[in-house]
Amino acid sequence: QRPRLLVTRAIFPDVVERLRQHFDVMDNPEDALLSRDQMREHLQGCDAVLTTPSEIIDAEMLASCSRLRMCSNMAVGYNNLDLPALTAIGVLATNTPNVLTETTADFGFALLLATARRVTEAERWLRDGHWTKWRYDTLLGCDVHGSTLGILGMGRIGQAIARRGAHGFGMKVIYHNRSQLDAVTEQECRARYVSREALLRESDHLVLVLPYSAANHHAIGMEELRQMKPTASLINIARGGIVDDAALAQALRDGTIAAAGLDVYDGEPQVHPDLLTLDNVVLTPHIASASEATRRAMANLAADNLIAFFTRGEALTPLNPEVLPR
Ligand code: GLV
Ligand code: GLV
Repeated sequence: QRPRLLVTRAIFPDVVERLRQHFDVMDNPEDALLSRDQMREHLQGCDAVLTTPSEIIDAEMLASCSRLRMCSNMAVGYNNLDLPALTAIGVLATNTPNVLTETTADFGFALLLATARRVTEAERWLRDGHWTKWRYDTLLGCDVHGSTLGILGMGRIGQAIARRGAHGFGMKVIYHNRSQLDAVTEQECRARYVSREALLRESDHLVLVLPYSAANHHAIGMEELRQMKPTASLINIARGGIVDDAALAQALRDGTIAAAGLDVYDGEPQVHPDLLTLDNVVLTPHIASASEATRRAMANLAADNLIAFFTRGEALTPLNPEVLPR
């Protein structure tokens, strides 16, 4: 009897085929969004589940999944999983770190550049037929080279962004993190550790790359935005809940800060309606890791974790290795 696997959402068909060699797979090629009740129902007879950031696996969901032994999350962020609850009942959880680091850092920079140089606003303006003559003051933006890049959350992705800023754009890089990097890594990233307050005060472009947890819900609200420079821009490629979107919209409207670039939103795929009315914000639909190669690598790593666990009792990137058999 092969283990039964629920693949909650559409993923690359060839990856599903690979999984079929090891699992009795219940997949979702139509990509129908499952309600929580449907999820619960589907999960009941399953030994494993492959999730995306949209599915919330919490204690209440787990209470009705007595067969479940593994949850493989196709994302590096795993705030959609209640890790302590999974661990308490011995369910292995895995994520997809490393394979998306450079791609996500590339996108962080794409958003930073687009925001600073008003790329999407300029294109809208052109398509709307406003370009009738060259003018010295058309769509003036803010320089990236030589400016101060602030990074909140200095994990692998934060470090990859720091390297791009320091080495590629000659930026002065400052960061804040729960812990300071070792001196060698700091030197390699050419990044200087500062307090949260200094980070807010000194950054010209502030990039958020910290994992979401209840403790940093709305870590960036009006109080923090007020500490930033009026010329500064804020880039969020972490998770929506970290920024108070209503406060941000207000700050963008009244000039508390100059601009923002957002790839993630509180309550996505809903976007705060006030943000949609503003020109000085670049909005993208949670695509920071979305290169062809990287999304494939993430799906394959999610599959490899499942296969490794059910064939060998191991995992490549476990989040709670303490539940693995010894
Ligand atoms: C995407 O948001 C991820 O966490 O990988
Ligand atoms: C986040 O998990 C990172 O790798 O920075």
